[in-house]
Amino acid sequence: MKKYNGIKKKDIKSKYDQTADHYDLRYENIQKAKFNALFYELKKIYDFQNKEIILDIGCGTLIVYEQFLSKLGHNFYYIGLDFSIMMLKEGINKNQVKLRHNNYSTILADVEYLPLKSEKINICVSLTVAQNLIDIEKHLTIIFDILDKNNGVLLISFHKKFFTLKYVENLLKKIQKIDYIHVNSENLEDYLFIIRKLH
Ligand SMILES: C[S@@+](CC[C@H](N)C(=O)[O-])C[C@H]1O[C@@H](n2cnc3c(N)ncnc32)[C@H](O)[C@@H]1O
Repeated sequence: MKKYNGIKKKDIKSKYDQTADHYDLRYENIQKAKFNALFYELKKIYDFQNKEIILDIGCGTLIVYEQFLSKLGHNFYYIGLDFSIMMLKEGINKNQVKLRHNNYSTILADVEYLPLKSEKINICVSLTVAQNLIDIEKHLTIIFDILDKNNGVLLISFHKKFFTLKYVENLLKKIQKIDYIHVNSENLEDYLFIIRKLH
């Protein structure tokens, strides 16, 4: 069962625009905990090179950027993509000093019309975004098309309020040429997965 919430996209965007200034107050620690659980497992299987290209889909206020910075220093290039201008602005404003290192870009766009084509992304992250999408299966297929074919990996979370574990696992089984790790998230709001693109 996937409970697509049926809310119109323009209403979702407007909700995030209106709540952007207090998003971190409410969700920063919650989102950090999800990221940390994923990163802990990622380190075991991923061989970090210098300058990974990281795409954060539905990046919100750039919490994931801050987390990579604290773990990897400036040895990565970050692209944050979101359709809420106010979430992006909030993220850029609070990170002005850190962002001077020029290791980032932000893109204002709908993730279901991803404006990227080539297989250059090493790490793609999507934290608590799937419940807002109309066709999650199509979206995942598009993500795997832009992941690097040698070491591309997706860190993704699915909110337990909207998805059952069975639904997510069935969804992943339908996608060809991937394997995945279900990361323990007993005390967290989301199911967490690390998904690798296979040759
Ligand atoms: C729950 S927030 C998560 C934000 C961020 N990933 C984090 O962990 O803090 C969901 C984000 O997804 C964005 N979003 C939802 N649907 C989107 C879409 N179709 N295209 C782009 N961004 C979208 C929202 O604007 C919001 O910033």
